[in-house]
Amino acid sequence: MDVARLAGYDSLIEPDLERVHASVYYDQRIFDEEMQRIWHRVWLYVGHESEVPTSGDYVTKTLAGEPVILSRDEHDEIHVLVNRCPHRGNTVCQDAAGNASNFRCAYHGWSFANDGTLIGATYAKSYGPDFSKADLPLARLPRTDAYRGFIFASFAAEGPTLLEQLAGAASYIDHFVDLAPEGRVDLGAGALKVRFHGNWKMPLENAVDGYHAVFLHRSVIAMNQKVVSTDEEGVPASARNPRLANRHRKEVVTRDLGNGNAMLDFTDANREARLDNEADGGLFSRPIPQEDKDAYRQALAARLGDEAADEAIARGMSNVAIFPNLAFVLHDVRTFIPVGPTETIVEQRPALLVGAPRSMNEVRVHQEVSSYGPAGMVGSDDTDVYERNQRAFDGRVDEWVVLQRGVASEVDEGGTRVGEGSGETSQRAIWREYRRRMLDGEDVGRCTETSVAVGR
Ligand code: FES
Ligand SMILES: [Fe+2]
Repeated sequence: MDVARLAGYDSLIEPDLERVHASVYYDQRIFDEEMQRIWHRVWLYVGHESEVPTSGDYVTKTLAGEPVILSRDEHDEIHVLVNRCPHRGNTVCQDAAGNASNFRCAYHGWSFANDGTLIGATYAKSYGPDFSKADLPLARLPRTDAYRGFIFASFAAEGPTLLEQLAGAASYIDHFVDLAPEGRVDLGAGALKVRFHGNWKMPLENAVDGYHAVFLHRSVIAMNQKVVSTDEEGVPASARNPRLANRHRKEVVTRDLGNGNAMLDFTDANREARLDNEADGGLFSRPIPQEDKDAYRQALAARLGDEAADEAIARGMSNVAIFPNLAFVLHDVRTFIPVGPTETIVEQRPALLVGAPRSMNEVRVHQEVSSYGPAGMVGSDDTDVYERNQRAFDGRVDEWVVLQRGVASEVDEGGTRVGEGSGETSQRAIWREYRRRMLDGEDVGRCTETSVAVGR
């Protein structure tokens, strides 16, 4: 919109981050610039190694509109390949997932090994003596890296390392993965995919929003209090849950983890509530047999030691948003796929703890489905609100979004901004990085040039 372009990002996202202009949620030109200035510059989450567990496995993904293939080759090496035939541009792989030693382009039959090498150009004689298959592999994103099994890629050949970009979020990933007795999680149980009419930043902000649950998810909370079991003091499990119970709200805090990463931190509240890991902590929990809880604690202690295992269990799970397309929401790992300024796909997967008793992982799957599945009772509330937000943003009378909650009480804890649990410190963390990136974008070249240059 012209108003947005004239105003510039320094005023569309106010310097104190207390207000954001709604055009950043709907404007096509702003969306195009986000793709260049943010999505083509930073590390993007691609997928998890457990989505391609054995040689030949592949999954197809979309990163900033670019179709890519995440594949594992015969030597167990993982690749992020551009899903585009270098001949005349067809996507070489159409399936969401599968296992294959090669991809054959349907158009003229060129075939590529699962590491991207061109292995066959049909009717090769007609290409003449200078034609070299080695010059025409599937393109790659310039940089790929992984952290604890989470695979990232960047369209930018240069820039901060993945670890630098993860900043304070890396230690949460460590904790999340270290809750598994074998020190790794498995995202292979399946994915829930939701496509909605709304901007990609909405689910990112929502993942670390500690303000909305008691209002938006009120019906779920009421139902949960009626049906779940009570403890020996007659307190319903949900009333001990810091994510739902007012009495633990004080201990919940929001954090700016740096570089647009943010946290809705339940650590102290989990400790205070004395949750027995996620078994008592989530909505729709089913009881986990005591012997399984004991076996889990023992298995965890065998790897981490007694003290660290008890600490990990007491700390429990929180919510972390990793700018711009990944979030951990309790046991759930979700990624955001922008389709257009007002169209987004969210993919989410329950993370299974490798080495944990089956009953614990069944609870994780059960919670995922009952919270976010087709008849799920949590995700539908959030998605409905994204679409209602987007509808309201179509209006032009009142165009600002207010993000000032908790500004006055925000404190600096050793270089980290920390705010109250229902404050908007976590949303401002996202907008701080968004603003910096969008203002810093003037010198950014066309990123497709970068990606074409590499991999040749
Ligand atoms: S476009 Fe792929 S072989 Fe021609
Ligand atoms: Fe929610």
